[in-house]
Amino acid sequence: MSYCIAIDGPAASGKSTIARRVAEKLNIAYINTGSLYRAVALAANRAGRDLASLDRGFLDTLKLEYVKSGSGSYELKLNGEFPGAALRTAEVAAGASCVATQPVVRDYLLGVQRGFAGGQLVVMEGRDIGTVIFPDAVVKIFLTASPEERARRRLAQDGEMPDGATLAEVAREIAARDKQDSERAVAPLKPAPDAILVDTTGFSLDQAVETITGLIARKLQESGTCITK
Ligand code: DC
Repeated sequence: MSYCIAIDGPAASGKSTIARRVAEKLNIAYINTGSLYRAVALAANRAGRDLASLDRGFLDTLKLEYVKSGSGSYELKLNGEFPGAALRTAEVAAGASCVATQPVVRDYLLGVQRGFAGGQLVVMEGRDIGTVIFPDAVVKIFLTASPEERARRRLAQDGEMPDGATLAEVAREIAARDKQDSERAVAPLKPAPDAILVDTTGFSLDQAVETITGLIARKLQESGTCITK
C-alpha cells in the first residue's frame, strides 16, 4: 500500500484548491501533478519544440523538483526556477493537455511522480493518480462537479481564461479538455474502481474541504495508517 492520498478529477472540479486545503488540515505535503504536465509544455514552448512529438532525450534534460515554500506547501521548480504564473496561461493549459496524450511524456512523468512519494503520507492530485501512478494508494477520491459549476469556478480564477471570456466560452473550453483527457489512449481520466466519488456541485469550499477531510480520516483509520510528519 502506498502512503498516497490520491485526489483525481476533471478540469476545474476544484481539485487543486480542495487538495491543498485538505493537505494543510492534515499537515502533510501536497503535490499538484497537473503542474508537471504544464511545466513540460512550458519548457517545450520555450525550447521551440513541437509539443505534439516530444522525445525522451528532451524530457531527460528537464529538472523538475518540488520545493517546500515558506508557507509549508510544495511548489514546483522547473530547471531551477519557480515558473509561477507562467504555468497558468491558457496557452500552457492547452499545451499541457496536448503533451499529456503522449505515452513518452506520461512514462517519463510516472517515474518523476513515483519518485516524489517516500515513506511519508502525501496528498497527490491529478487525473490518474489512483489508477496508474499509485493504484495501491491508501485513499482514492474522485472529485466531480457539474459542467456549469466548473465553468463558473474557472471564470472566477485569474489568468487561465482571456479577459472578458463568457461562461459559454469557458464551458466549451472545459468540455474540450474533458474530451481530450478522457478519450486519450493512455491513462484516460476515469475514477479507479475503488475510488470514493464526491460531487461538489453546490458545496462551498469549506463544505467540500470538511467532507473530504472527513472521508480521508475515516479511510486512514480503517487502514490503520497514522499521519506522521
Ligand atoms: O490539473 P491541470 O489543469 O493543471 O492539468 C493540466 C493538464 O495535464 C490537463 O489537461 C490534464 C493533464 N494531467 C494529466 O493528464 N494527468 C495528471 N495526473 C495531471 C494532469
